[in-house]
Amino acid sequence: MPHTLERVALVTGGSGGIGRAISERLGQDGFSVVVHYAGNRGRADDTVEAIVAAGGQAIAFGGDVADDVAMAGMFALAEQTFGGADVVVHTAGIMPLAPIAEMDLETFDRVQRTNVRGTFIVDQLAARRVRDGGAIINFSTSITRLQTPSYGAYAASKGAVEALTLILARELAGRDVTVNAVAPGPTATPLFLDGKSDELVAQIASRNPMGRLGTPNDIAEVVAFLAGPGRWVNGQVLFANGGAA
Ligand SMILES: NC(=O)c1ccc[n+]([C@@H]2O[C@H](COP(=O)([O-])OP(=O)(O)OC[C@H]3O[C@@H](n4cnc5c(N)ncnc54)[C@H](OP(=O)(O)O)[C@@H]3O)[C@@H](O)[C@H]2O)c1
Repeated sequence: MPHTLERVALVTGGSGGIGRAISERLGQDGFSVVVHYAGNRGRADDTVEAIVAAGGQAIAFGGDVADDVAMAGMFALAEQTFGGADVVVHTAGIMPLAPIAEMDLETFDRVQRTNVRGTFIVDQLAARRVRDGGAIINFSTSITRLQTPSYGAYAASKGAVEALTLILARELAGRDVTVNAVAPGPTATPLFLDGKSDELVAQIASRNPMGRLGTPNDIAEVVAFLAGPGRWVNGQVLFANGGAA
């Protein structure tokens, strides 16, 4: 039987570092959670188990965010299992780095496909299916404010995510659905840590006034606010980075 009285959250990238922390936090806040993954079913299952062990409800769903049929299946699962969709948190994304002069176009296309087309598809479905009173939360990055070498393809894709976010918020006028993007700074997950030396990680961590990397829980706190009480924050990009310039 669908649980129609509970609020329901879909978290893309729930198998990833930030997505897992968000899934668990929303589970603690009383949301039934669809934990989405692409290749790492085991990590999504672990997240579901953690939510259930804490007394919540969750189910895993696998699929490519750039595949519209697969993503429609994720919303259908939420509706069949939990009765609807109230909050969509779209964290799934990739970050291959290379200077513009050196990046091959296949990699560039993959970044845009996952990060831009993926956001367009998830947001399109969310705009059609999130219940009134809901929230759509995309993921940008603090890199969009910087001009950091090697981040060209990634920063371009996240600039597009910010544009989609700000426009969708205005398109949903009258629906009582908020649309925002969270833009983390460096956060201790595989996406940030992979391929970086300990020295480089320490150097990057020292660049903000707090003198440390963000944690997935720091980001989950911001998402919990936007998914819950933060109804007056709409059509914004929230930079969550410890005060980095
Ligand atoms: N970590 C940081 O420092 C940082 C900073 C700023 C912004 N962000 C943004 O925060 C978000 C989450 O990052 P994270 O650090 O948690 O990354 P992560 O640990 O690498 O997780 C990435 C997630 O995206 C999923 N994913 C990748 N490609 C996909 C595809 N084609 N279709 C569906 N899912 C796909 C992965 O699924 P599988 O593992 O199941 O394949 C995984 O769940 C990203 O949008 C990232 O750009 C991160």
